[in-house]
Amino acid sequence: MKIFIAGGTSGIGLAIAEKYLKQGHEVAVCGRNKEKIDKIRKNDKLKIYRFDTYDKEVFEKAVKDFSNGELDIMIASAGNYSNSRTRRLTQEEAVNMLKVNIAGTINAFEIAREIMLKNKNGHIAAISSVAALLEYPGASVYSKSKRVVINLCEAYREALADFGIRVTAVIPGYIDTLKLRELNNNDVSKKPFIISEEYAADIIIKSIKENKEKIIFPLKMKIIVSILSILPKKMLSKILLRKSNGK
Ligand SMILES: NC(=O)c1ccc[n+]([C@@H]2O[C@H](COP(=O)([O-])OP(=O)(O)OC[C@H]3O[C@@H](n4cnc5c(N)ncnc54)[C@H](OP(=O)(O)O)[C@@H]3O)[C@@H](O)[C@H]2O)c1
Repeated sequence: MKIFIAGGTSGIGLAIAEKYLKQGHEVAVCGRNKEKIDKIRKNDKLKIYRFDTYDKEVFEKAVKDFSNGELDIMIASAGNYSNSRTRRLTQEEAVNMLKVNIAGTINAFEIAREIMLKNKNGHIAAISSVAALLEYPGASVYSKSKRVVINLCEAYREALADFGIRVTAVIPGYIDTLKLRELNNNDVSKKPFIISEEYAADIIIKSIKENKEKIIFPLKMKIIVSILSILPKKMLSKILLRKSNGK
């Protein structure tokens, strides 16, 4: 299979890329940071592109170059998050977050859709977050942007279902990536039910293979989130605010 992972030069995207490569597939990834790209260049089977997913023209050129008219899977993993519950984002940070989390994801859907429509076959998966599942006053821009990702998956799934194109919304809890560690002074021990990148990659690959519409994991996080989501919004807001203040 030919698989393009938008945002696969580190973290979850890279873990998925490495597993697909081991299975013998053709895999391409993209990212912006040159140092990260240089680090993974040693894997000469992995095709790497350097660009911002917000730039649709360059994105499209790269996917066309890689796919040569055939693309089996597109995974939109590029995303931006920060500790926005403990620190208010600047306007620039918030807009940048929206650009990659929403506009970049739409670009991935649109570019993949065009190629896949010609072959009447393909699968698109986008990475959201369990943060998207809790709606309450004061929820972060991040959680709202990831809620949009779930809605985009639903809309594209419905629009593309008759054309052989499948869509999976990936909704993970905490995953032990370098980025998450960097944001938490290398201490992720307080992150509930945190799982490894490798385990997350296995779940994501399996859910695509089994054509799952939506996958929320790990199970314990799914259960907690479903319990929290039935609380009155004001109470939920209070609980989460206290938690982010370390109480
Ligand atoms: N880790 C978690 O606990 C967790 C939980 C739930 C959901 N998620 C979601 O999972 C995804 C991956 O997170 P991660 O922890 O693996 O983070 P990560 O290591 O920072 O990976 C993000 C990847 O996307 C790339 N990227 C980011 N912005 C980009 C842009 N504008 N254009 C092109 N590439 C871009 C990054 O490379 P460059 O920075 O060099 O561009 C990197 O390759 C994100 O969407 C995140 O919201 C993560």
